[in-house]
Amino acid sequence: MKRIYMDHGASTPVDKEVIDEMIPYFDKYFGNPSSIHSFGREAFDAVEESRSKVADILNADADEIIFTSGGTESDNLGIKGAAYLNKDKIGGKGYHIITSSIEHPAVLATCRHLEKQGFNVKYLPVDKYGIIRIKDLEEAISKDTFLITIMYANNEIGTIEPINEIGRIARKHDVLFHTDAVQAICKTPIDVGESNVDLLSVSAHKIYGPKGVGALYIRNGVKIYPLAHGGGHEKGLRSSTYNTPGIVGLGKACELGKTRLKEDMAHLKNLRDKLIKDILKIEESYLNGHPEKRLVNNAHFRFTAIEGESLNMMLDEKGIASATGSACSSKKLQASHVLMAIGLKPEEAHGSLRLTLGRKNTEEDVSYVASVLPDIVERLRKMSPLWNR
Ligand SMILES: Cc1ncc(COP(=O)(O)O)c(C=O)c1O
Repeated sequence: MKRIYMDHGASTPVDKEVIDEMIPYFDKYFGNPSSIHSFGREAFDAVEESRSKVADILNADADEIIFTSGGTESDNLGIKGAAYLNKDKIGGKGYHIITSSIEHPAVLATCRHLEKQGFNVKYLPVDKYGIIRIKDLEEAISKDTFLITIMYANNEIGTIEPINEIGRIARKHDVLFHTDAVQAICKTPIDVGESNVDLLSVSAHKIYGPKGVGALYIRNGVKIYPLAHGGGHEKGLRSSTYNTPGIVGLGKACELGKTRLKEDMAHLKNLRDKLIKDILKIEESYLNGHPEKRLVNNAHFRFTAIEGESLNMMLDEKGIASATGSACSSKKLQASHVLMAIGLKPEEAHGSLRLTLGRKNTEEDVSYVASVLPDIVERLRKMSPLWNR
């Protein structure tokens, strides 16, 4: 059976060039990058080269990059790190955090944790496309606000937030700006300088790199408190022996992502637009998220009177890998917080389907999905008590 992967928002295959680059760092260059002998220095050089490559795709300096174990850790380190440095200032500047109601759980759960510790968090609502309102942001800022954390692009519906405007406001009010760019990197150009971003999270496995490695960009001069204490790696901000192969993989993935950005974006946008056009021909089907301000690889639909999990399973039987919400939440059966935040009713949210395209997808893949989906939707509707046309 033909197998088609359209769940690149959950994870991507590791690029062959990335694997080839990583392999020598498992055995030939296995040294500890912190060791001063030649084995250590070889590994150290590779880590530093990767640091430059990660910096390069963000238009940052290499000394502004800290390696982590992935997007979740980067979000935790950026947010808690900024918060803990301000812990003693409760009541003054250093008390209030602003985020959005559609963040990834890595940000939302971190914010809820900080609330339990006495921080005050404002969760901004979003419009029907999932975009925060700049006016709400400006109104939420008070003299106690020290951090804004708003994602670059949403992992479920693909909506891209007005990052430059958020950055401009953060800078104007002298508030730190963290953004979770895990889904955006390699799918849209990112320039931390232009966007006035102070802290930015990256994960390798969403960009054809390995799982379990990521990075946090920390603007020069920005201070955060470490979460992992130990040997003092990464300027004391993230102790633990370097995951050299993973870091090399992340660096190579960023290098390839930067070289191919234009080509990848054009390819993905072409496929995404075809997918959206074809699938919206199905009766009572709708696009979730913004029609234009969305990730080039994200197509997110809802179908009246359909159960998304069943849709996923029936697509899987046809060899197609898809998702209902984000991979992290799709095993939970409650309606997605993102879809609720854009104003959908629970039954509408449950009838959603996320298709996220990747480099290897082709027009034939899109045609295949578009050819099998109408029949699946019809079959599910026949079984649905909600479908009474
Ligand atoms: C927007 C966003 N942030 C953070 C993460 C977590 O990244 P990681 O899996 O590397 O911990 C994900 C993963 O789905 C994501 O989509």
